[in-house]
Amino acid sequence: MPYVTVLGKGTFEVETGKKLVLALEDNGIHILHQCGGHAKCTTCRVEILGGDYCVLTEKEQTAFDNKDIEYELFEDYLRLSCQIYVKGDITVRPIMTVENSGLTPGPRPED
Ligand code: FES
Repeated sequence: MPYVTVLGKGTFEVETGKKLVLALEDNGIHILHQCGGHAKCTTCRVEILGGDYCVLTEKEQTAFDNKDIEYELFEDYLRLSCQIYVKGDITVRPIMTVENSGLTPGPRPED
């Protein structure tokens, strides 16, 4: 099973194919997901620090375009954790959490 490493938080093993946003949440990382995993809010975004996860899906590209997120941020390998299925080891830095934003996470995305 693959390992997810979260910068400054540790490493945990997750079920192959689990959505990254759920893998984070179920392991004590309070990442935001305010649209419930529908690739609309971008609050679940993470910076990919390691692992083969750097190609954006069309849904993610559209979500970032709609939120006016600067193109150069893609070069920092931002992805939407609600759109990533964990199939191999990955290292991430969550951008928005309950702790750093003061916001509520939002509805739990579907499995
Ligand atoms: S874009 Fe809203 S939860 Fe991922």
